[in-house]
Amino acid sequence: MQPFVFHNPTKIVFGPQMVKKVGKSTAGYGSKALLVYGQSSIKRTGVYDQVTASLQQAGVSWVEHGGVKSNPVLGHVRTGVALAKAEQVDVIVAVGGGSVLDASKSIAAGAKTDGDVWDFFIDQAQVREALPLITVLTLAATGSEMNSGGVVTNEQTKQKFNIGSPLLFPKVSILDPCLTYSVPADYTAYSAVDAISHLIEGYFTSADSATPLQDRFVEGLIKTIIECTEQILDQPDHADARATMMWAATWALNGLSTAGIGVYGFPNHMIEHSLSALYDVAHGAGLSIVMPGWMTYKAQQHPAKFAQFANRVFGCSGGSEQERALYAAEALKQWFRKIGSPVTLAEAKIPEQDIPAIADNATMLAQKWGLNEYNAEVIAAILKHCC
Ligand code: NZQ
Ligand code: ZN
Repeated sequence: MQPFVFHNPTKIVFGPQMVKKVGKSTAGYGSKALLVYGQSSIKRTGVYDQVTASLQQAGVSWVEHGGVKSNPVLGHVRTGVALAKAEQVDVIVAVGGGSVLDASKSIAAGAKTDGDVWDFFIDQAQVREALPLITVLTLAATGSEMNSGGVVTNEQTKQKFNIGSPLLFPKVSILDPCLTYSVPADYTAYSAVDAISHLIEGYFTSADSATPLQDRFVEGLIKTIIECTEQILDQPDHADARATMMWAATWALNGLSTAGIGVYGFPNHMIEHSLSALYDVAHGAGLSIVMPGWMTYKAQQHPAKFAQFANRVFGCSGGSEQERALYAAEALKQWFRKIGSPVTLAEAKIPEQDIPAIADNATMLAQKWGLNEYNAEVIAAILKHCC
């Protein structure tokens, strides 16, 4: 176990009907909000009415910045920054999935700088101040509701990069599982893939082998996510399964599962962000293509941890260590296929001949994240396993 500091300041308000608490939670941070939301879902489901009624009741006025697209883009973030500044809002209320929350974090930082918000993404500036952020989560996947990061695509440069600062932890996140009942089957599957990916990145890339607590935490969360995803796909309004999934996805990327594992990387995300940036595939769909390929590539080099995963998550005990390690990748791939997430580039209509271009794009993030072993050649070799 490695030394660590764990500090997560986000207040979680969890449970059915908790959406009604958004007004009061927001009023603690100001009287004028920027209300950020996505394309259409919150108006269709009635969540918009619930949120605005609660804000009104608490005496909070608001201006709106709707239309955040899945895989949020810089142009729309910049418009949000300009609006937040012009209207001199005190606080941001984000209502939606990870894309809305990430766009809101970026606006929160951009509203408090005279520079360009993109500078935070390319490490040309550090976040020194940010507007407070309240979130109402409608899709359980990214963990953005309880972490300090956000991801945005620069449409011009085709870079899907991240912003991060302790100042970007949401002040309050409202996790009302009922708001996720309307998430369709495809995004339910992508969400499960994403939450699992957050857990395996640290699990497989940490160099410390003495992390039994963190290992079992990850394995238990993954088994739970598999179980409740199948229940949800069977019955979309399964109250217990939606609630469990919501909390599990939050835990998957709030810093707890990686506390004590030392240095680790996000290579699957590094590669997936290029698929999203170049082809606008859903993040989870891109990950279900990349992950089995990356696992196959890595299992050949360091089989022990992959064999442990195969045994503890999928109950595989036969064969050699190398065979069990490769089974880990195969079993996860088959489960992704079973829940309806794509597992090959072709299934996402991404041509195999684009691999060199994808690899080139991914090297930009590999460099930013210090993933030095991942040059274009290595990334291309991994992508070959994704065909
Ligand atoms: O735009 P609307 O109309 O709201 O529709 C959304 C969108 O089409 C819809 N949706 C959301 N809640 C719904 C719903 N539909 C029906 N009922 C509901 N209750 O779902 C679609 C996907 O939403 P999106 O927010 O894009 O999904 P997700 O939460 O998976 O977020 C993905 C983004 O988060 C980033 C990804 O890269 C991607 O850009 N990530 C953020 C992370 C973070 N901040 O920590 C970490 C992740 O690794 C990830 O990179
Ligand atoms: Zn992710």
